[in-house]
Amino acid sequence: MPCFDFDLTSRDGKARTGRIRTPRGDIRTPAFMPVGTAATVKAMMPESVAATGADILLGNTYHLMLRPTAERIDRLGGLHRFMNWEKPILTDSGGFQVMSLTGLRKLTEEGVRFRSHIDGSRHMLSPERSMEIQRLLGSDIVMAFDECTPFPADEETARNSMELSMRWARRSREAFGDRSGHALFGIQQGGVYPGLRAASAEKLREIGFDGYAIGGLAVGEGQETMFGVLDYAPDMLPEDKPRYLMGVGKPDDIVGAVARGVDMMDCVLPSRSGRTGQVFTRRGVLNIKNARHQDDPRPIDETCTCPACRSYSRAYLHHVFRAQEIISSMLLTWHNLHYYQQLMSDIRAAIAEGRFADWQAGFHAERAEGDV
Ligand code: GUN
Ligand code: ZN
Repeated sequence: MPCFDFDLTSRDGKARTGRIRTPRGDIRTPAFMPVGTAATVKAMMPESVAATGADILLGNTYHLMLRPTAERIDRLGGLHRFMNWEKPILTDSGGFQVMSLTGLRKLTEEGVRFRSHIDGSRHMLSPERSMEIQRLLGSDIVMAFDECTPFPADEETARNSMELSMRWARRSREAFGDRSGHALFGIQQGGVYPGLRAASAEKLREIGFDGYAIGGLAVGEGQETMFGVLDYAPDMLPEDKPRYLMGVGKPDDIVGAVARGVDMMDCVLPSRSGRTGQVFTRRGVLNIKNARHQDDPRPIDETCTCPACRSYSRAYLHHVFRAQEIISSMLLTWHNLHYYQQLMSDIRAAIAEGRFADWQAGFHAERAEGDV
């Protein structure tokens, strides 16, 4: 029967492994979700995304409502069918994107009025409209409509913003209703203020959600400040529900977030970097456009089993990047997504075997050596 639930399978310090069960398949946690904003993970076929080990993708309400529209996707059988991805999809609610992408917008108690960044047309997003769009898309994990509090914000500004998001969270819950097999996640806000984070968590728990996100981070505060918030924020959320840190991050951000009790993350970094020539390896980041790669017959990473590393040299990848060939984006994105999913798999194994702290020390030591 259609269901949605979460089981914790092991713990090691604050780190946890678990499994989210959905009618479209299981999500192994800690999970990294590749971003498929416009009904595609750019430069990747969906079967290739699945081959990297991804159990779930992220899609965006804001982009899809403008083009090709949620109503059109619904008529065509929903987002999974439209983009040929049968596994679970989580959709962000649009509030974050509307504030970061559109110049002209007006925020009121009702929601946000704005003009499309594509053609200037007028639109409205509210908790009710966001829930409707995410239903039309057929999203498996729906995010509450919120305001991502900008950084920096003084405490009064952060409080007002958080309280608005909590009123919107209640309206999101009411508009979502009860949909078997589909989950609704609330989003904690409160900036860098422990008292506000606690009040937000309390309100979300009172409303009741299937999972709880930590929002308002990775917005320019820096890793030290973000980890400062993550030292206490996940502990304020229910133990027995998934915790999702939105928009994070670099590999070392992910490791630090998992160590502090986070179960899910998403970020454009591996896919976007694949198109700008930035490559992630266990020895840190390298840039394939650098001239030092032009005669190098070795793969990006000798230990990586992705198609880019199995069959192509750094010299070739350097050449196709410089020549702006499409295969450059394809291969580098594949490698980066493979690296991220391998990282998550290694993290899960280390937690399950009770050796996460040792694994984490090795992760940092290998990166400190640098690319050789
Ligand atoms: N993506 C990154 N941060 C946020 C946030 O605070 N809210 C939402 N909805 N999406 C995000
Ligand atoms: Zn590779």
